[in-house]
Amino acid sequence: MFEDLRALKSRTEARRITDLFDADATRASRFCCESSDMRLDYSKTQIDDDIRTALIALCDSVALADKREAMFSGAPINETEGRAVLHTALRNLDGGPVSVDGQDVMPEVLATLEHMRRFADAVRGGALKGAGGAITDVVNIGIGGSDLGPAMAVLALAPYRDGPRCHFVSNVDGADIADTLRGLDPTRTLVIVASKTFTTIETMTNARTARAWMREGGGNPAKQFAALSTAQDLTEAFGIPADHVFGFADWVGGRYSVWGPIGLSLMIAIGPKAFDAFLRGGQAMDLHFRSAEWHENMPVMLALVGLWHHQVCGYPSRAVLPYDQRLSRLPAYFQQLEMESNGKSVAMNGASLSEPSGPIVWGEPGTNGQHAFYQLIHQGTGVVPCEFMIAAEGHEPDLAHHHRLLVANCLAQSEALMQGRSLDEARARMAAKGLTGDELERQARHRVFAGNRPSTTLIYPQLTPFVLGQIIALYEHRVFVEGMILGINSFDQWGVELGKELATSLGPIVDGEQSAEGKDGSTAGLVDYVLRYR
Ligand code: F6P
Repeated sequence: MFEDLRALKSRTEARRITDLFDADATRASRFCCESSDMRLDYSKTQIDDDIRTALIALCDSVALADKREAMFSGAPINETEGRAVLHTALRNLDGGPVSVDGQDVMPEVLATLEHMRRFADAVRGGALKGAGGAITDVVNIGIGGSDLGPAMAVLALAPYRDGPRCHFVSNVDGADIADTLRGLDPTRTLVIVASKTFTTIETMTNARTARAWMREGGGNPAKQFAALSTAQDLTEAFGIPADHVFGFADWVGGRYSVWGPIGLSLMIAIGPKAFDAFLRGGQAMDLHFRSAEWHENMPVMLALVGLWHHQVCGYPSRAVLPYDQRLSRLPAYFQQLEMESNGKSVAMNGASLSEPSGPIVWGEPGTNGQHAFYQLIHQGTGVVPCEFMIAAEGHEPDLAHHHRLLVANCLAQSEALMQGRSLDEARARMAAKGLTGDELERQARHRVFAGNRPSTTLIYPQLTPFVLGQIIALYEHRVFVEGMILGINSFDQWGVELGKELATSLGPIVDGEQSAEGKDGSTAGLVDYVLRYR
């Protein structure tokens, strides 16, 4: 599939990215795309016109346009689970009907959204009270997609928060819930149990612990609990009243679910109006993805850059580097989005994948990462393509000088990665410091930057709810395009099942109720160690 591209890659071996800029004064404007004031600049890569043409040909070779429309129109493209993939319907605010099995799902989607708005307004305005008065704190209990999306977005949109404080508990480690509940008033806290299946062991264990805490502290779980789930029989059995339950269909995947009920804590934090703007940002990216030509299509080009770097060039990971402290949870969010979606070894048709699956995704916000792992990015022996993100403007007008420094650092990093510093430049610097002879040579070599390291930059006016919606939808569609070109089902996650099953069988062994017989020697030894401390 990537043979033509691998042949083209050979031409990049003796070439520097800076040569491409020297040869074409218009490169910066030709190797970027825009959507609603957001710009993706991928000119600081080795992609040239021929490589881009060959990458774009991949889209037609897999009938990407048909596959894209199959997703938007509710076809069961998640074949291993026999489901449609319609998170886009959750943000289809005024976009007309969407059918699943011949039935328009939009009336139900919009009715649920309206229910969320009424509930959020009641919590924010004090009409929905706890046993001790108006709600001051909201605790969202969920894990994976039922945690990462709202936790990331509540932090990202902190300047828009004018509702109760929101907290997130995900880990079954008791430390997580203990540290979160400590200091909260059980009579004025709302607990939201967010679980698509309502069976996830971590979430249900934490939910029961929170319920006991609330009861013991004089709160009223019958009024102060809400549930976000597809399993309304289970939410009822847990004791959550029907008007506090927000359902959604199985065609919303966990890691794609922040747009609907799973986003309730976000809506409570920022209000229904700002939440609508968030949805509209996602919807704007959907419209762009469905209508822009491939070479101008931001998710498509971001996906093709990713395929070029991982599948063709063989770089094993990519770093997501938001220069925005409030996007500090975005790399973790993208980790689930990309690695749970495209970390597969089997193609949709059951055959082994002929090409590498998705890359390792990791990152931290700038400028913090600069003082930690950028050393390896600049001078390590491997290449890590970097995806920088930066807003033109911050939210703190009184601290505009901080933002200027932030922007300067972000731009400096991509420039440094591309330009590098030659041995001659390093020698000149050492000579200027008074070094000579062998010592000059030795010291200079440590100060060389190979450069020629690729990066992209996503730049946007300001991190508003609308822009955050655009960014998330951009990456969702990027993952979709990469998955379709690789022939992967990006919407199942069978790889998480085996560990869950083994954890269930290990439960009674770790409790000391069953012997570890039959387990491998290492596992049995570790169990034995734990039991010595009981
Ligand atoms: O880890 C697997 C997974 O199914 C994720 O895909 C999902 O986001 C998470 O668990 C939580 O699942 P649920 O919302 O059903 O509790």
